Amino acid sequence: MDNQEKKTFYITTPIYYPSGNPHIGHCYTTIACDAVARLKRMQGYDVMFLTGTDEHGQKIEKKAEEAGVTPKEYVDDIVANFKKLWGTLGISYDRYVRTTDDYHIKTVQNIFEKLYKNGYIYKSEYKGKYCTPCESFWTESQLVDGKCPDCGREVTDASEEAYFFKLSAFAPRLKELLLDEEKNFLNPKSRVNEMIHNFIDPGLQDLCVSRTSFKWGIPVTFDEGHIVYVWIDALTNYISALGFMNDTYNDYEKYWPADMHVMAKEIVRFHSLIWPSILMALGEPLPQKIYGHGWITFGASGGKMSKSKGNVIDPFVLCERYGVDALRYDILREMPFGSDAPYSNEQMFTRINSDLANDLGNLVSRTVAMVIKYFGGTMPGEMEFTEEDNDLYAAFDVLPDIVSEGYSTLHFSEALEKIFRAIARANKYIDETCPWILAKDETKQPRLAAVLYNLLDCIRRAAILLYPVMPHSTPKIFEQIGATEEEITWESVYERNKLSSTVTVKKGEVLFPRIDVDKEIEELNKQLAPEEAPSDLEPLKELTKFDNFASLDLRAVKVLSCEKVKKSDKLLLFQVDDGFGTRQVLSGIAKYYKPEDLVGKTLAMIVNLEPRKMMGYESNGMILSVKDGDGYRVLEFDDSIKPGADIS
Ligand code: MSP
Repeated sequence: MDNQEKKTFYITTPIYYPSGNPHIGHCYTTIACDAVARLKRMQGYDVMFLTGTDEHGQKIEKKAEEAGVTPKEYVDDIVANFKKLWGTLGISYDRYVRTTDDYHIKTVQNIFEKLYKNGYIYKSEYKGKYCTPCESFWTESQLVDGKCPDCGREVTDASEEAYFFKLSAFAPRLKELLLDEEKNFLNPKSRVNEMIHNFIDPGLQDLCVSRTSFKWGIPVTFDEGHIVYVWIDALTNYISALGFMNDTYNDYEKYWPADMHVMAKEIVRFHSLIWPSILMALGEPLPQKIYGHGWITFGASGGKMSKSKGNVIDPFVLCERYGVDALRYDILREMPFGSDAPYSNEQMFTRINSDLANDLGNLVSRTVAMVIKYFGGTMPGEMEFTEEDNDLYAAFDVLPDIVSEGYSTLHFSEALEKIFRAIARANKYIDETCPWILAKDETKQPRLAAVLYNLLDCIRRAAILLYPVMPHSTPKIFEQIGATEEEITWESVYERNKLSSTVTVKKGEVLFPRIDVDKEIEELNKQLAPEEAPSDLEPLKELTKFDNFASLDLRAVKVLSCEKVKKSDKLLLFQVDDGFGTRQVLSGIAKYYKPEDLVGKTLAMIVNLEPRKMMGYESNGMILSVKDGDGYRVLEFDDSIKPGADIS
């Protein structure tokens, strides 16, 4: 088949928020999509596998401000970490979309304009709960105890001018789409009922799609001050990355509509209601299928894993200690499609030891070792097959279609369980046929050869089936059993006895080293201890040279003026007398002081830090403060200390 004729397959992950570094939860979706993409490539499809990051919004704007960098600088660092992790995990994505990419911005602006021109977007008033100090709108459900979820202060009813998308107009068509048995648009089925009963039947509200209260987003071209809010920006990535309404790519005709959008359950609503409505309004085809899997949860209390709960397990550490494929296998094996699955290191060690080291690893190493011991590593060619072999063959014959269907519908756990059942059958075959007894009898050589050959060939078939999930270790298995390129294609997994009858095996490294569970848990606890220490004290830093300290210029300074920085809930802008003149400095203590209370005070400051720009102002130094509970207090001197006095 040349490329022109190949059937295409387009699969996507959600675009993740780079508001924090990637964690195990993000890994689940991305590994699952990678496994599907690899399967489809093996099956001869021309695959487009898209992932990326959703980089706009108020949260990122704020985080960047806290970090004293621009939003773009802030996300650039985190995006680099996402890409690094995908590299480590062997994620074979074909394209990476960033919502800050120019082509994406172009597409979003074009779509917004088109929807506006066609009457699907209209201007109105957005009403919500407003936190004045944070300058943020919140919905009722986002409030915590009726207060601002960010700062805990009172909120007030407020409104701002905004554009709305006519989501309500699509309710009947959405219901029809979701209930279409043949299309089977949304999986699992339980989510269909949820969407209809919780959202469509009670009445779909039009959707607010622009904001004026923050800046970090894509500007609405025809109305200055408005930026595109959340979903039109985010969901559009699936077509902007193909070149829809932009000139950067030219793949829309080829790959759209997507075959599979994959995500966890909390964003199924956006993908199965808002996204199809936007596409209907644009007159474009709808994606084929939406898959909403469960969450990886953590700890006794369950709940979605989140950085803020401090329970993130570093995937880099896990890959380094146990191997990438062990992690890939474990998280796909542990989550039955549609349900949540708790993550625990201990459970992963059990999986590694029982499935990977004992069942698969042992099968390979025992078989290869016997071929070396009894035939010097090369199979003799002459073989005697018997009825006794049929049950073993049958265990593998049923797998390819089941596994293909299972992987393609995210039923990894079930599919992997079946593969490992067949692997267990192969181990049992060794016990039934007792090759070590056959080896003692000269006349049984052809039977011994058949037994070992059957084992090698079943290992071949198991490894092909496992390749999409374990793309790093299965090639090592192929090498050990001497399988050639054409013996490891997807088509060949349907065939028995595909290996050459005179194949040569090769002893290799231990594929999956066993883990001493108690020792390993102790070791991990040691590693995690500093991060998870119950104390809220910062851990002590490493020793530093005396010269490092001596190079800092610490002085007393007198506050001449102090004011809040506009659009920032953190920063105060100071003019201070440093004994030599006036200098400007910013400090992130606006939550703890009224500006007027600081005027006239003598404070401690580092005066020789390189200038830094924050929110458009240059800051020349750093005012020192001490942590006090959740807040900070400045270090103050009484009036007898003169500005410029040296602190040492
Ligand atoms: N930016 C939006 C998505 C826009 S898509 C057009 C977003 N980003 S996110 O960073 O919060 O990612 C959410 C997705 O990450 C989930 O839907 C899921 O795919 C994955 N996961 C994040 N945590 C997860 C778990 N604990 N368990 C499983 N998947 C999880 O929402």
